[in-house]
Amino acid sequence: MSAPAIAARPISPDTYRTVMRHLPTGVAAICATDPGNGTQHGMIVGTFASLSMEPALVTFSVMHSSTSWPKIAQAGRFAISLLAEGQQQVCRALSAKGEDKLRALDWSESGWGTPHIHGSLAWFDCRVEQQFTAGDHLVVIASVLEMTSGEGAPLIFHGGRFGSFREIA
Ligand SMILES: Cc1cc2nc3c(=O)[nH]c(=O)nc-3n(C[C@H](O)[C@H](O)[C@H](O)COP(=O)(O)O)c2cc1C
Repeated sequence: MSAPAIAARPISPDTYRTVMRHLPTGVAAICATDPGNGTQHGMIVGTFASLSMEPALVTFSVMHSSTSWPKIAQAGRFAISLLAEGQQQVCRALSAKGEDKLRALDWSESGWGTPHIHGSLAWFDCRVEQQFTAGDHLVVIASVLEMTSGEGAPLIFHGGRFGSFREIA
């Protein structure tokens, strides 16, 4: 016996946003130096996640409308700085539209020639392995060339607001 046909009702973007607001995420800065003119490009993602240990892979997704991502991908190598509690200003600066977003931020160049944001929790130097379209986003899979830990508590984004981690008994 075949399963009854149930017409899937499309989920509206409003419903999607309203329900997904309940999911807390970390905040990661994706930054690269343009090999052409030496300027920095950056953006923020809440979709950064671990993917594979062997080989070391990470993933995040990028809106098709992002103007920074094509420039970061073009650079070949990029760095992910996992933001710490108190780095809300870094998030605001990099999630804004515009050029030269790292201008007012504290950062330094890694051995891979990628920008690392000072005061972050962790840094990943990466290379794009794969990217494919999934709906209105690109799913990026990146291999990790080097990863380093800093210290502190994470910056967490939840329900449109910033917070941090609090241990409960
Ligand atoms: C907390 C937070 C999480 C975000 N997560 C994503 C994400 O996962 N993917 C994405 O494409 N944009 C995300 N954005 C938006 C981009 O950081 C940013 O607004 C956009 O890329 C800037 O535009 P540009 O790429 O044209 O420079 C997020 C923004 C914030 C504040």
